[in-house]
Amino acid sequence: MPWTGARDRGRAAIGAAIAAVCIFAVLLARAEFSVWVLLAGLVAVALAWLWPSASSREDRREGKPPATPPLLPSASVFPDPVILVDRRLVVTGANEAARAILPGLKERQPLAFALRSPEILDAIPAVAASGEPARVEVPGRSGHEQTWEVRIRRLASGGATTLGEPAVALFFRDLTDHRRLETMRVDFIANVSHELRTPLASLSGFIDTLKGPARDDPKARERFLDIMQVQAQRMTRLIDDLLQLSRVELKEHVPPTSLVDLGQTVAHMVEVMAPLARERGVELALDLPAEPILILGDRDELLRLVENLVENAIKYGGPGKAVEIVVGRSSAAGSEGERVELSVRDHGPGIPPEHLPRLTERFYRVDVAESRTQGGTGLGLAIVKHIVGRHRGRLAIESTPGQGATFRALFPPAP
Ligand SMILES: Nc1ncnc2c1ncn2[C@@H]1O[C@H](COP(=O)(O)OP(=O)(O)O)[C@@H](O)[C@H]1O
Ligand SMILES: [Mg+2]
Repeated sequence: MPWTGARDRGRAAIGAAIAAVCIFAVLLARAEFSVWVLLAGLVAVALAWLWPSASSREDRREGKPPATPPLLPSASVFPDPVILVDRRLVVTGANEAARAILPGLKERQPLAFALRSPEILDAIPAVAASGEPARVEVPGRSGHEQTWEVRIRRLASGGATTLGEPAVALFFRDLTDHRRLETMRVDFIANVSHELRTPLASLSGFIDTLKGPARDDPKARERFLDIMQVQAQRMTRLIDDLLQLSRVELKEHVPPTSLVDLGQTVAHMVEVMAPLARERGVELALDLPAEPILILGDRDELLRLVENLVENAIKYGGPGKAVEIVVGRSSAAGSEGERVELSVRDHGPGIPPEHLPRLTERFYRVDVAESRTQGGTGLGLAIVKHIVGRHRGRLAIESTPGQGATFRALFPPAP
């Protein structure tokens, strides 16, 4: 730590000063006297140099550990903000990150000039006095639900420092992302429970009815069993989508490595979706280039992606309308370079612009009742987003209300 180095420097300075005075005296004084002065000077210098080794011998005899080397050569190596203050809360050091969050921070000025958090300012003297570390959470200055955790620790020599020497360190950590993830996790569990509870409540209700009032009514029994089947299918879809989502999320940081012909994959899924389209009176128009369009992909995931986009276009585009599916290469994106593009366009009511940014969130729907009647789970576009992400691609959604919606997935072409 800097203060151990200061003691050594002090001794060297005293020794040098005595030596200088002696040499000066030798030059000025008479010859016989100068011998004595020279001798006295040598003794003084020797004493000045011996003094520290004597004191460290003492330390050893008393069982004190030797002075530890500096642990933190410079707080600037820390990515998170660190501030050092003396026991009167005057700033003695801070790293770049601390200056970035507290622009008013100045050395040798009270911390309170730059930081107005009573929780932190009250905790420091307590930590300096007791040596007991403290942890406080404070809102960030920008407000946007930002939270900082501040850990306050007394430095090794905290009790015995003089003013101007660092006595207490403040370590800051941004908890905002952590908190956001925590909220997402809690919301997710609440949403899943709610989505499962609704069909489950309906199933239990019908079971009670079938055991009681409808026991001997064959017509009612048929009808109730049909409803129960629909509810059970809804639960199955939800579980399937949840599993699919967690599988894609788990693999998201491992990009796929097989070569997949996107055109052929899309053509296959469009064929699978043809019966649903016919049932809804929707015409599926597929436009594919003659040559294969290769990307590095996971075929199963790409099939799920196409399935979700085409199914949405069929269900939300409305009956009697066309859905256009195009696969091709696009270079219009400029800085992105050439991309392989899949676009799915419908001519339905479209999506109001305020919903567009949240559409890929789990369980987010523009119209919950409409999604439920269509057998939706609210997870389709979240799955699509993660699949596109794993393929290092991008999802773009464009819609003008009243004129339909276009979902575009852009992928890097295979090298
Ligand atoms: N082509 C579309 N046209 C209009 N709205 C759409 C379209 N695709 C998706 N949406 C809206 O986005 C919501 C989320 O879609 P999705 O994640 O697939 O869930 P789900 O279809 O199960 O409700 C839908 O509920 C719907 O409100
Ligand atoms: Mg959907």
